[in-house]
Order: sequence, then C-alpha cells, then structure tokens
Amino acid sequence: MQLYLDTANLEEIREAASWGVISGVTTNPTLIVRERGADFKTTISAIADLVDGPISAETISLDAEGMIREGLEYAAWHPNVIIKVPSTTEGLKAVAHLTRKGIRTNVTLCFNATQALMAALAGAFIISPFVGRIDDSGVDGSQLIREIVAIYKQDTTITTSILAASIRHPRHIIEAAIAGADIASCPFKVLQQAMRHPLTDRGIEQFLADWQTRT
Ligand code: G3P
Repeated sequence: MQLYLDTANLEEIREAASWGVISGVTTNPTLIVRERGADFKTTISAIADLVDGPISAETISLDAEGMIREGLEYAAWHPNVIIKVPSTTEGLKAVAHLTRKGIRTNVTLCFNATQALMAALAGAFIISPFVGRIDDSGVDGSQLIREIVAIYKQDTTITTSILAASIRHPRHIIEAAIAGADIASCPFKVLQQAMRHPLTDRGIEQFLADWQTRT
C-alpha cells in the first residue's frame, strides 16, 4: 500500500517527503484555505515540485461543466496534478469527460460502495472513501474499503486505485492496508504518530545507556 500526505502545508510535505515514504499528496478546499493567504495554483505547483507523484486539486463547481472547466485549468499547472471531484452524478460526467481528455481524476467524498463502483465505471483514476467520517457516524469505515476491494476484484477491467481518506489515527492505516486499499492518504500528525512507539524510545535509551558503560 502506498502512503500519500493529506495536507497543503509545504513544511509538512517537505519533511514527510524527506522520509522517503510519500508517493503523492491530496488536498481539498478546507486544507488549501487552512494555509492562510496561499494562492491555489502556487501551492499546488509547489507541492508538485516537492513530491513526484499524483497531486490532487479539488474542484469547487457543483455542475459537470464547471468541474471540467476547472479540471482542464488545474491539470495544465503540472503533469502530476489530478482532479478531485465529488461522488455525484455531475462528478461522474466530469470524470468521463476528463478521462477521455487523458486527465486523471480522484473521486472524493465517497461513502458507499455503489458510488465507488460507478466512479470506477466512469474511469476514475482514484476513489476516496472517507473512512474517518464513516467511523465518526458509528459505522466501521474500514468495512467500506473491504467492500470496494471485493467489488473491484470482480471486474478485471477496473483499474481505479482505492485511496483510504479521512484517516484519523495509525490504526486506520493498518486497517486500510489489511483491507487491501492501494493508498492511504494521511495527515502529517498521523504519519508522525505511526512511527512512534514508547518501547522503541525505551530501547534506544537502554542501548545508549549500555554503550556508555563500555570500557
Ligand atoms: O482529503 C479528504 C480528507 O482531507 C478528509 O479528512 O478529516 O476532513 O474527514 P477529514
């Protein structure tokens, strides 16, 4: 399973990219606005210079015509930019059109397996089921990953990658990997947590303490 970073913060991206584990970056309108005053095109272009992989830039339009217009604009910013559209019928139209134009898409805000199936049939490059927000509603978000994996496996013509989104904690990374997701896109804080363990820290301390006793 690949790891993407879910942020528009360039410092976080620069740091995580140095770890050698990041294969792409996802953004959304909330994450872009969080980088107060950041210009959308400048930010996406800077991200594309930091990570050599798919960079998701999300459209704002609710109609296919607007999504396509935005998608054509954003895709021209960098070859690695892929276009995020919501799991709606207008989003399907935009995916079908942009795919015919050779532009990759990430269908986001996916909350059930039928949305994922239809996104794949429309030609989506990535589908983004929101595991954390499903968990927030009291339902097992990882079950949706398992359903999508099972459905996609039934059709060898489906090449859509399953990206576990809305990751809240390291356990979501493990569950997504076990369920068969192709990608998990994580906030920087979760990636930091994922590498921390008190026994690792204690082991390092003990090794150093023992080393100091060498004669
Ligand atoms: O890209 C989707 C992701 O950022 C959503 O996460 O925490 O807002 O559910 P969250």
